[in-house]
Parts: sequence; C-alpha cells; structure tokens
Amino acid sequence: MKQIQLETSFLSLDASELTPQERTLLDQALAACDMAYAPYSGFKVGVALLLDNRQIIQGANQENAAYPMCICAEPVALSRAKLQYPEAKIQWMAVRVKNEAKPALEPAAPCGACRQMISEYEGRQEAPIGLLLQGQEGLVYKFEEIAPLLPLSFSGKFL
Ligand code: THU
Repeated sequence: MKQIQLETSFLSLDASELTPQERTLLDQALAACDMAYAPYSGFKVGVALLLDNRQIIQGANQENAAYPMCICAEPVALSRAKLQYPEAKIQWMAVRVKNEAKPALEPAAPCGACRQMISEYEGRQEAPIGLLLQGQEGLVYKFEEIAPLLPLSFSGKFL
C-alpha cells in the first residue's frame, strides 16, 4: 500500500498587485454579474474570458424555477466564446460573485462540473486556461491552469 499525496498551490494577490489586464478582466467579470438571472438563489456569478484575439467574452448564471436546469456562468461564457470565435484560444477566465444575502468578500471557485468543463476546453485548445477569482472585493486567487482545482481529472484519454 502506498499513500499518494496531492498538492495544490496558487497565488493570492492584493488588488494592488494586479496587472492592468487582470484588473480589466476582473472588472468585466463583476459587470457580468449584472447579467445574471438569479431570482432563486440571489447569488450572481459573472465571468469574463480573455481570448488570444484580445476579445473579452462575458457570461452570467441563468437560473430556472426547475432548479436542476440552472446554468452556471462558466458554461455560458465558454460556449459563447467557442461559438463566436471557434479558432480563438481562451487565455484567462475571471470569475466574480455577488451575493444578495451577504457581501461576497472572498473568491468563490467554480463548482466541480464547471471545473470539468474548463478542463475539457483546455484539452480542446491544447493550452491552459488561467483563472482569476475574486468576490465583490478583497483578495484575488490566481491559477495558471485548471489542474490545481481538479486533480486526477477525467478526460477523453480514458475513452
Ligand atoms: N453558480 C455558477 O454560476 N457557477 C459556479 O461555479 C457555481 C454556482 C451559480 C449557479 C446558481 O445559479 C448559483 O450560482 C447558486 O448556486
């Protein structure tokens, strides 16, 4: 028997440590929260993707009275980007959250299903997607790729 240890590491930054490009992308993600349709949870998620053609694509969660039909912000943005610019690679994904019930002062990481979807998009484009996560304000978590958030990921290589 062997114990296998998995390590995750990422950067935590103050807003003052962001590059202008990172600041812009995080601002666009916060603006995207206003496009959320979240009457049931009051939890608004905004995403902004930076493509290698310099375009920024936004996405926001879209809820449904039949709760399992709720669509997260990440797949909205990823699908939009891929349909609008099929040849472009996604370089960065910024995710911001706004909670009507209480101020979102820390980053909320994408749910498991969204991590899996980001992983699939990385595989498709054969290039990593960096992540910037922030609440309404406060610290920013920065990941160079999805792997630290999805260890032992499932992929097409098993099929
Ligand atoms: N949500 C996202 O948009 N992305 C995630 O990664 C996690 C959750 C949304 C779904 C639902 O509309 C609300 O947040 C509360 O779960």
